[in-house]
Formats: sequence, structure tokens, C-alpha cells
Amino acid sequence: TSLDDFIVRLPKAELHLHIEGTLEPELMFALAARNGVTIPFASVEAVRAAYRFSNLQDFLDIYYAGASVLVTRQDFHDLAMAYFTRAAADGVVHAEIMFDPQTHTDRGIAFATVIEGLLSAMAEAERRFGLTSRLILCFLRHLSEEAAFATLAMAEPWLDRITAVGLDSSELGHPPAKFARVFAAARAKGLKLVAHAGEEGPPDYVREALDILGVDRIDHGNRALEDPALVARLAAGGMTLTVCPLSNLKLCVVSDLADHPIDRMLAAGLHATVNSDDPAYFGGYIADNYRAVAAARGLSRADLARLAANSLTGSFLPAEAIAAHL
Ligand code: HPA
Ligand code: ZN
Repeated sequence: TSLDDFIVRLPKAELHLHIEGTLEPELMFALAARNGVTIPFASVEAVRAAYRFSNLQDFLDIYYAGASVLVTRQDFHDLAMAYFTRAAADGVVHAEIMFDPQTHTDRGIAFATVIEGLLSAMAEAERRFGLTSRLILCFLRHLSEEAAFATLAMAEPWLDRITAVGLDSSELGHPPAKFARVFAAARAKGLKLVAHAGEEGPPDYVREALDILGVDRIDHGNRALEDPALVARLAAGGMTLTVCPLSNLKLCVVSDLADHPIDRMLAAGLHATVNSDDPAYFGGYIADNYRAVAAARGLSRADLARLAANSLTGSFLPAEAIAAHL
């Protein structure tokens, strides 16, 4: 089989995916028209042309603006269904999708509207494709601890349908420690914990995510490589890192995919995985990410199979479900 078919046929879990980051320009225009929302772009081509970022904040500014077309429960359903359809075609068997409630509740959209739309698409994806999924509620780290607590309170009626909380948005200046108490509260409610750390932030932010938040996975984690003792600790602890190669390229975390550290991570014993982050903005879904690092770093089929197996063992599925996919 071709390398392409091999990648698609590998059973994969997607562990780092922001559902708002799957909003393709075509759907952005369709939803803007459906909801009478104006967007500052003349065409789909103009939107794509604006997707040239020099850092995380450049991207976040345009990503939050794009989300303004999402208004109704049907919009969230359609957004997630488009993602699941694409993911199923790439051989994703399980997806743990992040959503940013504050991006919506802060502009008057009810928490219920967002989560009910996502949950109905998740049920449909399981019926249509056999693709299972879980929800990760992310707190926006540029906002306050108090706002994060208010978001956790809004989620209370749906906690049995939310698997984990996460931490995303502008990393520099907003260390994990800022959210120590809200993560402790989420843990006390039985939720799993993940956090973006070491994308732009220093290795110390990865340490804080481990020591102060007590996370179950690190999202990104690239800058941990600057600290050999931290790498050894992550490897010994079997900590899953949800790495996003095309995101790293577009947000200038790496200057060239030829320098991407994915194979160095594996060689160091890190439980690295490959994920798409915000595929509509970064130019590729999960199989594109596998193909891109395979080509840029000369990964073997054994390396690719290891990355896919890591994604299943690093998921929040029960052990029997993981075993059934491996
Ligand atoms: N980093 C931080 N916040 C985000 C990202 C990311 O890669 N994608 C969506 N929100
Ligand atoms: Zn992310």
C-alpha cells in the first residue's frame, strides 16, 4: 500500500482539536448569510489570504472573529458534523474535541446552545461513522480565574457529558498557576485535566501544568525539549503530548517542518501524538499532519504506527475500548 493509504488506514485518535478551529471559510460565509452576521472579508479567497500568522496571537485574533458567525444550535451541529465527516475519511476512530464556551457566552450565546449542537453531532457521528468522541471544555487563559469559575458553573448540568477541562488561548503571561483553583475544582467534580503548555511558553509552564494543575495530558509541549530533566520526567511518567505539526509551522513554533522535533520526541521516549489543532486555519486535517511530518522528517511506517498507537493509549477511552482499536 502507498504511504498515504497506510496513514489513513491506521486507527487514530485525535486528541488536540478545537472545534471552532474547524470552521472552513465556505461554512463561515454560509453561516454569516444564514444568521445575518457581517464578516470583514469579501470572499472565501480573501479569508484564506488572511491566514498568514507570525505568532499565536495573530491567529487567535482572526479565530475569535471567525467564531462570531456561530449563533444557533444548528450552526454548532453543522460545524461539528463537517469536522467528523472529514475526520472519519482520515481514519479517525475517536476524537476528543475542545470547545471554548467563553468565546460564545461572552457574545450572548447560551452555553446550552453550544453544547447541545455539539452533542447532537457527536451522536450522529457515532451512528453514521462509528466514530466515538468526547468533549473537553477549555477555559480561555487570557480571561480571569473568576470567569473560568463562572464557565465551570454554567457547565454543571452537562458534567456527565464533559470528559475534561483544558486551558487554551494566549499562553505568554498567563501561566497555568493562574488557574490552580479552578482546575482543582474541576478535578473534584471528576473531570480529567489537560492544558496547553510549552507552545510559546517556557518549560516552566509545562512544569506548572504538571505540578500545580496535575494534568493528565500536555497539549503541544514543544518547549519542554529545552529542559532535559523535564523531558526525562515526562518520558518516565508516560505523559502524552498532543503535538500539532502544521499548527507549529503556521504559528512559527518551528521555522520549517524539516526542523520539526516529532521524531526527537519519540527517540527521547516521549508519548508524542500527531493532531490537527485548528485544521481550517492551518491548512490540513490529521492525515495531512501525519503525511507532512512523514515527508519532512523521513518517518518510517513503524514511527507512524507508534504515533497512532500513542493517540489511542493517550485517550480518555476505557482500556477495553482502546484495546479494541489497537
Ligand atoms: N494554542 C492556544 N490556544 C488555541 C490554540 C492553540 O494552538 N488553538 C485554538 N486556541
Ligand atoms: Zn490547541
